[in-house]
Amino acid sequence: VRTVRVCFDRGSYPVRVGGGLLREAGNILANAGFAAPPVLVTNPRVWRLHGSALLSGLEPTFGKIHRVVIGDGERFKNHATLSLIYDGLFRARADRHSWILAFGGGVVGDVAGFAAATFMRGIAFVNVPTTLLAQVDSSIGGKVGINVPQGKNLVGAFHQPSAVLSDTSVLRTLVPRELAAGLYEVVKSGAIRSEPLVRYLETTLPQILGGDPECLERAVVAASRIKAHVVAADEREKGLRMILNFGHTLGHALEAATDYRRFKHGEAVAWGMAAALGFGVETGVTDPGDSHRLATLIHRVEKLPGLGGIEFDDLWTSLERDKKFRSGRLRIVLIRRVGEAEICADVDRRGLRRYLKQFVRRPGGVEA
Ligand SMILES: NC(=O)c1ccc[n+]([C@@H]2O[C@H](COP(=O)([O-])OP(=O)(O)OC[C@H]3O[C@@H](n4cnc5c(N)ncnc54)[C@H](O)[C@@H]3O)[C@@H](O)[C@H]2O)c1
Repeated sequence: VRTVRVCFDRGSYPVRVGGGLLREAGNILANAGFAAPPVLVTNPRVWRLHGSALLSGLEPTFGKIHRVVIGDGERFKNHATLSLIYDGLFRARADRHSWILAFGGGVVGDVAGFAAATFMRGIAFVNVPTTLLAQVDSSIGGKVGINVPQGKNLVGAFHQPSAVLSDTSVLRTLVPRELAAGLYEVVKSGAIRSEPLVRYLETTLPQILGGDPECLERAVVAASRIKAHVVAADEREKGLRMILNFGHTLGHALEAATDYRRFKHGEAVAWGMAAALGFGVETGVTDPGDSHRLATLIHRVEKLPGLGGIEFDDLWTSLERDKKFRSGRLRIVLIRRVGEAEICADVDRRGLRRYLKQFVRRPGGVEA
């Protein structure tokens, strides 16, 4: 088991990463100071696959655990689910000293974390992420929230967990596409912050995609460390934290322009990174060799769903609506060299528009 510590303005918390952690969860959390049983929030799929392992870890320490089972999928990251969690907390007679254990992917973590941020003006929560995306990205950093009809993640809070337990052995039950989608966030971490991580992915990609426990654990630790460092430096997303959005500006627009149906989030980010690399080369920011190297890695992960049929005007409209894109000047994250990101604060709108228009038509161009 490896530990990454996340520091923020009012404290710090451990992210523990390792195979088989679920069965040790009770001991770990008791040592971290939790005495009462948590209210556990999960979804049916995660519970069916891994609930018994988690219970075997928790029950000897905490006894009977209250459980709230929410719907599976992004469409359940909403107000109704939040109410369901509050109801569960009241039924469990929760008070200000109670705590939530979020057991699932990013959806469970975000909505359960938001319930924790708001119930009785904020109670503690522990994240036990079960997808690769959630382990390397969404469980760390304290952003919690829900979607509303007006858009994704538009209602939320910053509420740091008390601990994160990433049991890498649960990743073996992910469908391959889900594993790949999470892996793009690992590629992103390397691209913005760590050439050694990129090199590691280049050499161990087949093992990682094949579920090799040691390789997966190393990748999760490396990416968690990067996210922890960046978040520690900029908890409230005022500056540096923006580099975590590499590939996300266009990624979000691609998701929106295809009604969130065609791409997994990570896949849209993969296209976003490929486009940002090409644009970086065109504007002289990105080293062409490094762009080629990263684009090659991105395309080795899996065959991405194509960009065919996407109306460029829809894409551009979505892009301009992006909350990070909207305010005044156009900012976008580019890569200077592998492991080094740069926030370009004043992007030429027309140039970007022209570039993206041709990219969407012939995305393969960036690979050459
Ligand atoms: N808070 C943040 O900083 C942050 C960052 C990135 C993404 N997010 C959010 O995360 C969400 C996406 O997270 P996600 O990709 O984990 O999606 P998800 O939570 O929907 O999980 C994807 C699917 O995998 C299933 N699953 C989970 N664990 C499994 C396992 N071990 N084995 C088999 N199946 C399993 C889930 O039931 C679901 O069907 C989005 O809502 C996004 O907005 C938040």
